[in-house]
Amino acid sequence: MFNNEIMTIDDLDFDEKTVLIRVDINSPCDKKTKKIISDNRIEESSKTIIELSNISGKVIIIAHQGRKGYYDFINLSQHAKIMEKFVKKKIYFVDDIIGQKAVNAIKEMKNKEILLLDNVRFLEEETLNLSSINHSKSDLVKTLSPLIDIYVNDAFSSSHRSHASLVGFQPVVTSCIGRTMENELIALDKLTKNRNDKEIFIFGGIKVEDCLNEMKSLLSRKRIDKALVCGIFAQIFLLAKGYDIGEPSFKFLEEKKLLKFLSDIKYLLEKYEDKIDIPVDVAENINGKRNEISLDQLPSTHEIFDIGSETIKKFTKTIMNSRTICVKGPIGVYEIEEFRKGTKEILKAVSASSAFSFLGGGDMLHIIKEIDMKREDFSYVCLAGGALIAYLSGACLPVIHTMKQFKSL
Ligand code: 3PG
Repeated sequence: MFNNEIMTIDDLDFDEKTVLIRVDINSPCDKKTKKIISDNRIEESSKTIIELSNISGKVIIIAHQGRKGYYDFINLSQHAKIMEKFVKKKIYFVDDIIGQKAVNAIKEMKNKEILLLDNVRFLEEETLNLSSINHSKSDLVKTLSPLIDIYVNDAFSSSHRSHASLVGFQPVVTSCIGRTMENELIALDKLTKNRNDKEIFIFGGIKVEDCLNEMKSLLSRKRIDKALVCGIFAQIFLLAKGYDIGEPSFKFLEEKKLLKFLSDIKYLLEKYEDKIDIPVDVAENINGKRNEISLDQLPSTHEIFDIGSETIKKFTKTIMNSRTICVKGPIGVYEIEEFRKGTKEILKAVSASSAFSFLGGGDMLHIIKEIDMKREDFSYVCLAGGALIAYLSGACLPVIHTMKQFKSL
């Protein structure tokens, strides 16, 4: 039992049981080939899968990949192949979730077999933001729950989502958390006891809505001394401050429907101006070459791909004066060597500082490797991004809440 509140694998008898496990194997993919470029989450989840397949009868796996409308919204056939490498057992894959094909595949499973169903986000109902009771009436839960004995949630990195596959089974099926979730919770519980003041959060990556929600929650709970804004998020802050970022970057924000966050960001800037630092210069992408410009030189005729050297210097000073640092996502387009500088320099500064450092985001382990750093260079590298920040902000994580609520089932 974790903290006397959440059932773990150790609390249940799995012998001969059919287990449904929800993992988070959402992985970064190459934009063009759609090939998975980092298998860290699959490797981590495989540990729970191996354990469950050893102690129970049949193991059915559900998971999501990407988001509707994004290039990484793909099926899970590649994941099955990669998982096989780590689990060292055949992983059957069926390109269905709740249709007859999936139901038949489950019914035909033999003892000790492992079956991966397809991307649960292919179901419209999955991502509806509903309560666990309402999600327990979803087609997903109604179809799969009669076919299973135990539901295991091992998706800590998605625990900030109230989605059907994450919170819908607990009200109707005996449930517990898996080892990945348990290990993250144990580590974070222990590490957060060492937290103190002078806490800064560095927001990067492309998940603007998440960054915004998390920043709002941190600022309103007074859990933050400084927010350093990077990535795509920074471009909306520049706009909100009245800078003309230039047509190519503006168009990108427009295409990705990110301009709707402008008014919220303006409000945050007015209310918490002294707590938020935005870039003082940027690096534009001129046909693959890095060109740094100050904010006075805006608008840029090219897309902005990174923060500039002056911003790196300014942010490094703040980093060096902090005692706890949380970094979510990359600082710029780290995938391209020319625009890796922001990510590399900021992470180097975080590691060189004496602060307690938390790194989060699905790509983080991959990024660290890419910039020749190691997991050990930081206090903790979490496989979760949004869930990590939500946890550190003290917000209620729907999955954790649901696990506690239905613990005695
Ligand atoms: C993540 O990568 O943070 C989790 O897999 C959740 O994905 P999401 O942000 O698309 O819900």
